[in-house]
Amino acid sequence: MSDREPTPEQWRAIRAEGSVAVRAGAGSGKTTVLAHHFLYLLRPRPEGPPLIDEVGRILAITFTEKAAAEMKQKIHTLLAVELGRATGTERRHWERVRRELLAARVSTIHAFCARLLRENPLEAGIDPRATILDEHESQAYVEAAVEEELVARVRRGDPAGRELVQRHGLRRGRQGGAVGVCVRLLASLGRTGRDGVWLAAAMEHQEALAPVATAALREAAERIAARLRSALGAARDTPTVARLRAAWPPYEAMLEEIGRGGAAAPVLETGRLEDLCRLLGAARLTGTVRDDLAYDGPRLRGVLAEEYGFLAALAPARRLTELLVALGAALRERKRVDGVLAFDDLIAEARALLADHPAVGARCARELRAILVDEFQDTDAVQAEVIERLASPGVPLFVVGDEKQSIYGFRGADVTVFRRAWERLGGALPLGRNFRSQPAILDFVNGLAAGTMRVPATSPHPGRWTVLATSRSCSAPSTR
Ligand SMILES: Nc1ncnc2c1ncn2[C@@H]1O[C@H](COP(=O)(O)OP(=O)(O)O)[C@@H](O)[C@H]1O
Ligand SMILES: [Mg+2]
Repeated sequence: MSDREPTPEQWRAIRAEGSVAVRAGAGSGKTTVLAHHFLYLLRPRPEGPPLIDEVGRILAITFTEKAAAEMKQKIHTLLAVELGRATGTERRHWERVRRELLAARVSTIHAFCARLLRENPLEAGIDPRATILDEHESQAYVEAAVEEELVARVRRGDPAGRELVQRHGLRRGRQGGAVGVCVRLLASLGRTGRDGVWLAAAMEHQEALAPVATAALREAAERIAARLRSALGAARDTPTVARLRAAWPPYEAMLEEIGRGGAAAPVLETGRLEDLCRLLGAARLTGTVRDDLAYDGPRLRGVLAEEYGFLAALAPARRLTELLVALGAALRERKRVDGVLAFDDLIAEARALLADHPAVGARCARELRAILVDEFQDTDAVQAEVIERLASPGVPLFVVGDEKQSIYGFRGADVTVFRRAWERLGGALPLGRNFRSQPAILDFVNGLAAGTMRVPATSPHPGRWTVLATSRSCSAPSTR
């Protein structure tokens, strides 16, 4: 990189003052720009001292050890270039920077939070003898605790526990069975800064929508029955139409029953609806009811399918919610008894520390002059709050990221956090060129991203319905 000059748009980002968000694709030089900016802040200026006089006043964080190592490496590489060029006082300045870099706050957000808790033991209220588990140890610990509690519940006849274990196995398969399901749900709940109370409220909110969904379901069933009756009356008798006509009476009865409100949602068999859709497709009558019922590939769509899926999910979701609240409480108690802090507890505790003790945040704000965040798209809501609390009183925030690249969707990273941040920062500076990949790969990534960014609609398949709201809003619990 040493012989590669930043492009003009990279320079604009590097020399930006105040808070900035750089949003660009993979390989466009974001980490490079962040490393340049780090040194830019420390560079002696012709008109006076550097913008920041000590390395320790810059906090540079990211989310994985690998990304933190890369960030550190890039800063060191650029610093070596400065040292190679400089003479006299300037050289002595960069030598001091190099010494200070050894103790710099360039790390993962977990390491930073651990340090913050260590530096404020009284306010953090954390047992100094607590064992802090790393990411893998935490995973194993939480899985073991959840498994033990789940097994105990199944033995006692807990219906939600039984249902989940019957469906997924205890720890079967790549997804880790019922234990894996619960661990992931608990983790995403934690990473969005939510708790059992929020979950219970979210569930109640969903249940309150049931009457509206029931009415919509009935109306859709009535519409489908009426439209198909008249379409069958008008259609020419081709072999496929004849087949549909022959098969129609039981479907009509089913739809009428739903229309009368006779069929409770769980009685409805999605397989039969899929069969009906196939018959309609063959008879070229799909268009007649498309908005209310359609089948494309693995999913049923349309009002009937959506409302049915929602209603059928309510009862299992309620049971699963209650199970999760209980498992979460058992896990917390076990950690307390064992004197253990799990990996993500570091973030949650740091957030609580900053929220409950403004003096700690004020002290950080006095010490820090800039916060730089790489891979910002991987921030979850709790991490974002920690960063925001540190940045709030006048410490500029320089964030770089690419929402399309978020690898942590599955663990609660919230791309809306990124979008909100850069909207607040007044729009993002683009880095258009790509130095790493060929255009074909870029097209692919863009296409992929278009799919991954979509907020999933309510799934018509109850088993895949998620209890947790997608990240549309932090305050209003809603999956609809
Ligand atoms: N102005 C530039 N000219 C040439 N290569 C560059 C330039 N900026 C960055 N690079 C190179 O492009 C590659 C990707 O940069 P990196 O900062 O890791 O991108 P990102 O963080 O956006 O994925 C690196 O090898 C980097 O050295
Ligand atoms: Mg990078």
